[in-house]
Amino acid sequence: MAKTYRVTFEPEGRSVFALEGTTVIEAAGRAEIILNLPCGGKGTCGKCRVEVPVGSPPHSEKELEHLNEDEVRRNVHLACQTHIHADMTINIPSETRFFEQKILVEGAGREVALEPGVKKVFVKVKEPCLEDQTADVDRVLESVKDMASDARVDLDTIRTVPDRLREGKFKITVVLNGNELLSIEGGDTTEHTYGVAFDIGTTTIVGMLLDLRSGKLVATASRTNPQVVYGDDVISRISYAMENKNGLAELQERVVAAINEIIAEICRQAGVNRRHVYEVFAVGNTTMHHLLLGVHPKNIAQAPYVAAVRKSIETRAADLGIHINEYGRFHAMPNIAGFVGGDTVGVILAAGMMHSDDLKLAIDIGTNGELAMGTKDRMICCSTAAGPAFEGARIKFGMRAADGAIEKVVIRDDVEVNVIGRARARGLCGTALIDAVAELLRVGVIDSTGKILAPEEANGDVPDAVRKRIVPGDMGYDFVLVPGSDTPSGQPVLLIQKDVREVQLAKGAIFAGIQILKHELGVKDEDITEVLLAGAFGNFIRRSMAKRIGLLPDIPTDRIKFIGNAAGAGSRMALVAKGCRREAERISAETEYIELGGRPDFQNEFMMAMMYPERLNHE
Ligand code: FES
Repeated sequence: MAKTYRVTFEPEGRSVFALEGTTVIEAAGRAEIILNLPCGGKGTCGKCRVEVPVGSPPHSEKELEHLNEDEVRRNVHLACQTHIHADMTINIPSETRFFEQKILVEGAGREVALEPGVKKVFVKVKEPCLEDQTADVDRVLESVKDMASDARVDLDTIRTVPDRLREGKFKITVVLNGNELLSIEGGDTTEHTYGVAFDIGTTTIVGMLLDLRSGKLVATASRTNPQVVYGDDVISRISYAMENKNGLAELQERVVAAINEIIAEICRQAGVNRRHVYEVFAVGNTTMHHLLLGVHPKNIAQAPYVAAVRKSIETRAADLGIHINEYGRFHAMPNIAGFVGGDTVGVILAAGMMHSDDLKLAIDIGTNGELAMGTKDRMICCSTAAGPAFEGARIKFGMRAADGAIEKVVIRDDVEVNVIGRARARGLCGTALIDAVAELLRVGVIDSTGKILAPEEANGDVPDAVRKRIVPGDMGYDFVLVPGSDTPSGQPVLLIQKDVREVQLAKGAIFAGIQILKHELGVKDEDITEVLLAGAFGNFIRRSMAKRIGLLPDIPTDRIKFIGNAAGAGSRMALVAKGCRREAERISAETEYIELGGRPDFQNEFMMAMMYPERLNHE
């Protein structure tokens, strides 16, 4: 049995169990920490420095080329060159984290200036007297005329101004949203200016509290999207909204309740009063976007799959029932099409794809695989119905990545598996599904048509212990990943023939989508400088395995990069930088959507992409 070790990442204090020999990059990905790897993990740039205070291995020659004596003494390592061989504690500094670099702190990272929508300014307003009977609101506006000339003021706000001016003894903080006076607050509250960026996923909602003065992340929390009780995917949510009188309202209430819970939790964590949260920015797929706004998504589910609204939305958060400052604003990222939403806009924004001369491909794999490819001159995108196989659905022993899920499969003399939480195996999650198929293809237990071969048909080099795991099943042969003696139920965890077919369908849909985008742009695999894997699943996937099954193009592995929750990062960027909001609008307007259902060549590509590759040029 292969050894597993506990790896704890600081400062989060997040622990995962990793198989011996796993890279630090992969273990960090499992802990949802995405590292910045400028040279793609080749060990040539020396940028992926981490500290290993517990369990530090000896330094390799390659590491010593980049580290000075002091760093060696402090057990600094290069993440891409370090493997897990003991229980370890690894400290990951912010400069080694992917998005901390990209998401600004003013002047650093990508050139996006910190410019939140809401600004606060402390002013001392001249008190009125018989000689100066200027109206209260005019008096306030006069004090901020350099920042907002002739600012608009809502009637709601006007009603509060006289009392608040006097309660604050004419020393007040003016809250501005561009050229609009949102409110005034007594005294100096400028230190307390916060916003929350949301990523509203079909499965998970993540909220991030940011200090709008610095752009810094202050607290994060997440919840399962409570709409999952109405179905796992967007189509079942839309059906619920269509088939039930109050369906849309119920779905909206659920998501708003989760948003409010998350806001309460992150404010509690950070000791921030909710009154001091002035903006919420949300990204999500087009259906999540519509449901949150209470806009019916019914036309997304039927041809020609039209969204009700594409452009960005700004409204009062209170109008949606979101509990922040009573005058706070809510923004929704613009969409691209019915099946490519603001989450993809967020990915393109965060990855800087619209600034690049180099051809990049971004892939976000979920029930739908959203793909975007292009350069600053032309960006195209599509959505493929990958199905839920990689999320564990329709797979005999499939499960989400929770304790008891096999997350990694390696075949040497026998099968080695890593189980999340070091529990006994109950099933397998998407990454292990890809590994299992890839490894069985590599050793010759599965052939390129996707057939699990009989023990006597399998490649002669297959180790005996592996061959013995091939057992008769309902549709031919199945493969025993973990015998019943090692599972809590006493039942073996199997990869069955039908599972291999489900993987073919899922990976075939994504790969065919990539082929269509390539045809559309007239490019080849070798023209793609980077494949960016976004989303939770993208964090964990093992790149060589994904190539092995033909899910990703056969390009050198160091050109395939993890970008983590890029949609959420895009939301953070847009929250703190109005320039990013403008860029998002441009991405939404200029990215061309390719409807695969309308392409005569898609079926053909899909049939071809169902096959498993015989061999790779870039293993
Ligand atoms: S040395 Fe470049 S990513 Fe590790």
